[in-house]
This record gives sequence, C-alpha cells and structure tokens, in this order.
Amino acid sequence: MSNHFDVIIIGAGASGLYCALTAGRRGRRVLVLDHANKVGKKILMSGGGRCNFTNYFVESEHFIGANEHFCKSALSRYPSWEFIAMVEQHKIAYHEREHGQLFCDDSAQDIVTMLLDECSAAGVQVKLNTQVDQVKTPNSDHRQDVSKRFQLLTSKKLSKKELHDTAAQSKTSQTNYSCESLVVATGGLSIPTMGASGLGYELAQQFGHQLLTTDASLVPFTFTDRTGEILRALSGISLPVVASNTRTAFKLPLLFTHRGLSGPAMLQLSNYWQTGEMIEINLLPDIDITALLLAHKKSHPKQLVRTVLAENTDNQLPKKLLVALQTMLWEEVKETELANIKDERLQEIGSAINGWQLKPSGTEGYRTAEVTRGGVNTDEISSKTMQSNLQDGLYFIGEVLDVTGWLGGYNFQWAWASGFVCGEVV
Ligand code: FDA
Repeated sequence: MSNHFDVIIIGAGASGLYCALTAGRRGRRVLVLDHANKVGKKILMSGGGRCNFTNYFVESEHFIGANEHFCKSALSRYPSWEFIAMVEQHKIAYHEREHGQLFCDDSAQDIVTMLLDECSAAGVQVKLNTQVDQVKTPNSDHRQDVSKRFQLLTSKKLSKKELHDTAAQSKTSQTNYSCESLVVATGGLSIPTMGASGLGYELAQQFGHQLLTTDASLVPFTFTDRTGEILRALSGISLPVVASNTRTAFKLPLLFTHRGLSGPAMLQLSNYWQTGEMIEINLLPDIDITALLLAHKKSHPKQLVRTVLAENTDNQLPKKLLVALQTMLWEEVKETELANIKDERLQEIGSAINGWQLKPSGTEGYRTAEVTRGGVNTDEISSKTMQSNLQDGLYFIGEVLDVTGWLGGYNFQWAWASGFVCGEVV
C-alpha cells in the first residue's frame, strides 16, 4: 500500500531529517511531511547563513530544561564528532570560531544538501506543502496490527495566491497515510514566517502529554522606559561584558540596538531570564572601578569621574556610552572634582559600572528568537529513544521537547542527537 510507511516524521527540519536518514539507513520505509515549501528553513538562516552546526565542547550544562538529566543519554550516544565526520565525508569546508563553535566556510545550504543527499541515499521520501489535519490511532484496540498504529489525514497547503482562488481550493484533495511509528519533529514557535507552528504541542496534548510553559529564548531584550531611549541612542556599540542574574553569568560581547540590548551576552542570558526580573551587566569586568576612582581621588583629586574612566580603561568604554552612563549614573556630580565627591558616592558609581542593574520590559519575542524554551515535558518521554511513555510508537525530537541549548551550535547538536537515537529505534 503506497500510503503506508513504517515511519512518518512530521517536520523536515534539523531533527526530522536526521531521524529520517538514520531510520532509512536501517531499511525502514520513511516519509517526512512538512507544510513549508522548502526543507530546513531554519538551518538555512542559521549562523548568519553559515550554520553553526555543532560545537567541539558539548556537555549537559549547555542545556536547560526542567529535567536537566534528560539530554545526557542522547548527547553521549551521538557526540558532536559524529556529525563532524559526516560533514567531512561530504567535503564541506568548515571552521572553528571562539568557544568551539563550528561554522560552514561557505553556506548553510551545504548542510541542507548533505542531509537531503543522505535521506535520498537511504530511500527517504519527503513531501512538502503538506498540512497534517488529523492524527488518529484507530488500532489502539487491536494491538496485533501495530504496523498501522497511526492514521494521518493531510491536505495540500495552499499558497497565498491559491487561498484566494476558490477553484484551487475546491481541487485540494486530502490524503490518508498510515504508519507504525510517528515522529513529531515540528520544532518550536520562533520565527513563524519560517514555518514554525504549534502542531507538535497540540499533538502532544492530544496524546495526554503535559506541556511546560513555552517562551521565546536566545532573544534580545527590549526596554520601554527612559533607559530604552538612552540605549537606542547607543545603537551599534558593542563591548565585552559579564552579563548575569541570580542564576548564571556569561562573559561575552554586548550589542546596543535600536530596540534594546542584544549580542551573545544578552541572548545567552535570555535563556535564564523570567519576565519582570532584573539583569546585571558588568561593563568593565577586568577593572575594579570603585578602587580606580578612590585611588584617583588621592592621586589626582582635581579630575572628574569621566576623565578617570576615559583615561584608565584602555578605551574599553566608547565615548558615547561614557556620556550616557554619566547621564544615568552620576549626573549631579558630573562637573565635580573627585576630591569633593564622597567616597560612598564614588563607591556607588563604581558598583553601578561593574554591576549595572537593568530591568528589561520584555524580549523581542518569537519574531526574532532563535529558540523556544519549554515544551513537551521530558518526564513523559524516554531519554534513550525519545518515545512517549503514554503512547506506543509516538516520538518527540528536537526543539519541541523541553530541551533548550545555549547559543553556539548546541541546539543543532540536540536536534541531530535526538533525531539519531530516535531514528535508531523507529
Ligand atoms: P526545525 O525548526 O528545524 O524544524 C521544524 C520543521 O517542522 C520545519 O521544517 C517546519 O516547517 C515543520 N513544521 C512546523 N509545523 C508544522 C506543521 N504544522 N506541519 C508540518 N510541518 C511543520 N541553532 C544552532 O545550533 N546553531 C545556529 O547557528 C542556530 N542559528 C539559528 C538562527 C535562527 C535565526 C534561528 C531561528 C534558529 C537558530 N538555531 C541555531 C536554532 C535551530 O535552528 C533550532 O534549534 C533547530 O532547527 C531545531 O530543530 P528542529 O528539527 O526541532 O526544528
């Protein structure tokens, strides 16, 4: 029966394609369905078009999720060098950037082409522009026929033009598929224009799974109050900082944007941030500013705070930023000589620069977030196979699960690893 498959995977993204090629190599008859008009859209846009496809140093500490142990088994069974070996076999040139991050030399398209070539060599079929309208388990009472555990009703996804064309709409036929194993690889909610949808979460709920609150993550912070105005004026400035909150700290570059704060330091911190919380930024992590100001009060009592900072911080504070900090942090003593500023006030200024306290009003949200944190509760999923504990033959892989990686190739490594361990058993 042509519409019957051993394995149907919903989602032709990173985890879905990796799972497909792994299962296909085992001789399984695999179909991948996607409602988008192209496979791997997020791979194509990742890493500024060069795809940060993995990292040399992958540990469970680089991932967050309610169950911090869940990711360990898959990551240890599919280490990053396995993916690197495939990249090398396909003669894709790549390079290492700071913190072990690996990027393609040329284009993220190389990774998509590699995955599609491997899928095609393994006999995997991929069907795009396909909407999954319904998933049923008609055989749940007849356990002897596990090969047709799931029945899917799909329809052609209409293009924007077709949506306004009633003739095209009436021609849209529905197709039924059946399969033994159903893999949900629909990713998260970020960048809806790239095909993100909530289908994976809906299917999880249909089969009784618990969802953990989802939120945009690896995402810039926004500010609406007066701080927002000041930050906007600094747009384009970048400097290395330590960004922290009560749970974590990252020493990485910060970027001021016309919407607020971005750059690797902020994206990483966003994984650990909840709405309403403060963040702290050490703008000069290698210099104790309080000690510097107090020492200069003794040695150069006639100097101003801004002069000390401009002359003794190795040009680490761009002039525009220094002026903005002055407006925010020591406006009332900006023209006062150090000798006439109390030690306590200098301490406050030093602490503010080494620990600038800010309260973001929010984040840029799913529109620009790299990932979705939260998702399908991993307590109800086997960490060895990604199979549901509630429904035989149902699997969840990739970002739809409550596993979120740091910036640096970790989210793709999770997609490959979870796709691999699932592809080995479906
Ligand atoms: P992924 O999103 O890859 O695939 C999901 C697939 O499911 C899509 O093809 C989608 O069309 C399909 N789908 C969704 N709903 C459907 C429905 N209702 N019916 C049918 N199909 C449906 N990570 C990293 O490690 N290094 C990096 O450099 C980057 N860079 C980066 C940049 C940007 C801009 C973004 C948005 C994200 C990244 N990421 C990243 C994160 C990374 O892209 C992401 O974590 C993985 O692609 C997740 O893989 P999945 O397979 O889970 O979902």
